Amino acid sequence: MTESSLPESAIPSVPPRILLGPGPSMANPRVLQAMMQPMIGYLDPDFVLIMQEVSDLLKRVFKTEDAATFALSGTGTAGMQAGISSLLEPGDTVIMCVYGFFCERMVDMAERVGANVVPLRADWGQPFPPKMLQEALEKHGDVKLVTAIHAETSTGINQPLTKLSKLAKKHDALFMVDAVTSLGGNPMEFDEWGIDYCYSATQKCLGTPPGLSPVALSPKALQSIKDRKTKPASWYLDLALNANYWGFDRVYHHTAPVSMILALREGLRVVLEEGLDDRYARHEKNAQALRAGLAALNLDLVAPDGYRLPQITPVWVPHGVDDATVRTVLLREHSIEIGGGLGAFAGKAWRIGLMGDSSRPEYVLAVLSALEGILPRVGFEVAIGAAVAAASEALAED
Ligand SMILES: Cc1ncc(COP(=O)(O)O)c(C=O)c1O
Repeated sequence: MTESSLPESAIPSVPPRILLGPGPSMANPRVLQAMMQPMIGYLDPDFVLIMQEVSDLLKRVFKTEDAATFALSGTGTAGMQAGISSLLEPGDTVIMCVYGFFCERMVDMAERVGANVVPLRADWGQPFPPKMLQEALEKHGDVKLVTAIHAETSTGINQPLTKLSKLAKKHDALFMVDAVTSLGGNPMEFDEWGIDYCYSATQKCLGTPPGLSPVALSPKALQSIKDRKTKPASWYLDLALNANYWGFDRVYHHTAPVSMILALREGLRVVLEEGLDDRYARHEKNAQALRAGLAALNLDLVAPDGYRLPQITPVWVPHGVDDATVRTVLLREHSIEIGGGLGAFAGKAWRIGLMGDSSRPEYVLAVLSALEGILPRVGFEVAIGAAVAAASEALAED
């Protein structure tokens, strides 16, 4: 085919968007620049040093001394799949705390592995009650694994983890945590909270495009994989093989996605240069401004006070308003992306993300001002200017 016969692309280049959904979030410009570096072999001694640096930076972000830290090639779901298929053998009992869409995904995966799955289903939009876990652990002897999600992106719940972890430890079970949406956005203490396996994703609060799943694996969890009677069904997502690849042995496993690893390295440097505490404080401050603005619009938040994530704010769609129409107008007229509801919340909730580089005061004001203009057009009256004023006031506070 000659050049002139190429069909014209419908979208020759990506339109600039303000990404205020559940991810991907805005990529940091330094990260995008890092991806433009020349290609280097994945076994090149210099690239090996870069992988080591990524692993060290991840230790600081996960807050761990002893865990093996590395990045799986794949999105957050790869981290979930790797944990489930590496930590569980057919017949193993796993107790799964379920309080949202992504918890259900984990249940589906564990069932496919042939584990004895005990899903503890609690209310969506509320924190998971530790008492439920306590009762289940007392009822089911010999539990191999307990799972939870730190930041349930579908409901906006910031799940406290220490009580769940202590209960798992008391019953000698491993504790696996999904930190896809939390890492880099709100505090994570892998060692202090007694986590055995934690996975995240690059495209949420780390300011990096989607494509890698950073993970931390405790020595106890690694040993449990080595002690398995059967090999994990997934060779590619075998955590022990991936740990070997990233560890001292550097045993060849697969061709590393070089540009994504360069991106993650830069993303982690940006995170640590800002400082973890300052970064969490920035997320919280912008979230408070958003919440103040949404309250001025008379919109109700899904998550209760005290358990709200700063990086994702699910809000109920007002009665009679079409969820998709508002999101479409936001995108087409304002170039702002927000998310819709998932699973049981489809059509009922919007999800506004302020993750990583998307957590900025100007974006908070932009989305509120846009909603002030759109909501009356779809039959929901609001006081024009009130949301922006409330958010500006919150932003001006010390
Ligand atoms: C809490 C949670 N877990 C897992 C995932 C899946 O991650 P990915 O889409 O990167 O595969 C998501 C995605 O939004 C998520 O929010």
